Amino acid sequence: MTDTRPRCPVDIDLIDPDTFEDGLPLAQFAVMREQAPVFWHPQPGSWGDGFWVVTRHADVVEVSRLPEVFSSYERGALLSTGSEQDEDQALQMTRLLMLNMDPPEHSQLRNIVQRAFTPRTIRALESRLQEFADDIVDRALAKGEGDFVKDVAAELPLLAICELIGIPAEDRIKIFDLSNRLIGFDDPEFATSVDDAHLASMEMYGYANELAEQRQKEPREDIITRLLQAEVDGGSLTVEQFDVFFLLLSVAGNETTRNAITHGMHAFFQSPEQWEVFKKERPLDTAVEEIIRWGTPVIQFQRTALSDYELAGQQIAKGDRVAIYYSAANRDETALPDADRFDVRRADNEHIAFGGGGPHFCLGANLARAEIRILFDTIADRMPDIAQTGEPRMLRSAFINGIKELPVRYAP
Ligand code: HEM
Repeated sequence: MTDTRPRCPVDIDLIDPDTFEDGLPLAQFAVMREQAPVFWHPQPGSWGDGFWVVTRHADVVEVSRLPEVFSSYERGALLSTGSEQDEDQALQMTRLLMLNMDPPEHSQLRNIVQRAFTPRTIRALESRLQEFADDIVDRALAKGEGDFVKDVAAELPLLAICELIGIPAEDRIKIFDLSNRLIGFDDPEFATSVDDAHLASMEMYGYANELAEQRQKEPREDIITRLLQAEVDGGSLTVEQFDVFFLLLSVAGNETTRNAITHGMHAFFQSPEQWEVFKKERPLDTAVEEIIRWGTPVIQFQRTALSDYELAGQQIAKGDRVAIYYSAANRDETALPDADRFDVRRADNEHIAFGGGGPHFCLGANLARAEIRILFDTIADRMPDIAQTGEPRMLRSAFINGIKELPVRYAP
């Protein structure tokens, strides 16, 4: 039988991290949206020997909102870069993460931590976030110049998530290093292998268990305590369930927000007139959404079809994997007019950097927004003349749209 599934209209390998080494392939994404918005990407040796690529805004939203058809559990939500066997091995463990579950199991776990992330809880955290932001800016100004990623962008997400989870602030460097090794394993600067990422997760679990022991004795108002006291099916979480929850929360809130902040600063350097508008008018709410859209820190996630389904005229078969490219969808002109323009006053910004809706919509969205708003407001107040002094270095990853280093001068 001949394979009639449409192929990519441009020559590109979306599995190869090298493809993303110089940033997102935006020009190629535009051709895909235009000529083959849903196409089959071969990946020999993987589950199904390939996956569907979805690049249009409306289609990513459609897939995201149909968990009963497009499962996160079946083959996990992370697009596999390895063989079917490697993936089968990893699947058992990753399925403990709510990210890789479907309702109703997913909802049960999400409910445990949902309350720690409501707009009200996050508002209560804002004065603390402001203190952190002031400290970060003080230290950066004292240095005069440095790497914006390490000095500024990495700090606030780490401090914020450590505060919420209940990790002592002085241990944030440990969390920073571990999450780099966990997520950046395609980039030789952070780890040499998938094995090292595995090692990093083991270290993370060891650390989580130490903190759990402390909280068993002395409960506090934090997520660790909440997880320890949670009831699921009449019992408490298993040690394994606790560990992976800890890992998901530590990692998910870190890399993503750090990269949104760095992309935002870089966008301001590239569009100085937007920095002037931001400083003068402080369109905080619209600017925050635009920074997040522009950065789109998560390039894609994967789903697996539980039944046959027609998407944008293409017949997806039961068992097929489907990768939804937020990074391509956030430049879709049909949903976001003038999408290639960074515009801090953009109205009706329907970006899907936090997901296309549905049950997995980013749990930390309100926290990330608050961090970005407070940090850029503080930078504009206290280091308005911040300037770029060197080229950014990109993360080599087909999953996270990351900037590893951005050299800057904090004050003239
Ligand atoms: C700008 C920053 C962030 C971006 C771009 C981002 C993006 C995303 C995306 C795309 C998803 C998957 C959505 C889906 O499948 O529909 C997600 C899920 C998630 N995010 Fe975020 N995120 C950010 C910040 C955070 C923060 C600060 C936290 C705090 C802990 C967090 C925690 C999570 C968790 C736990 C999930 C899994 C939710 C679930 O499976 O129900 N994220 N995020």
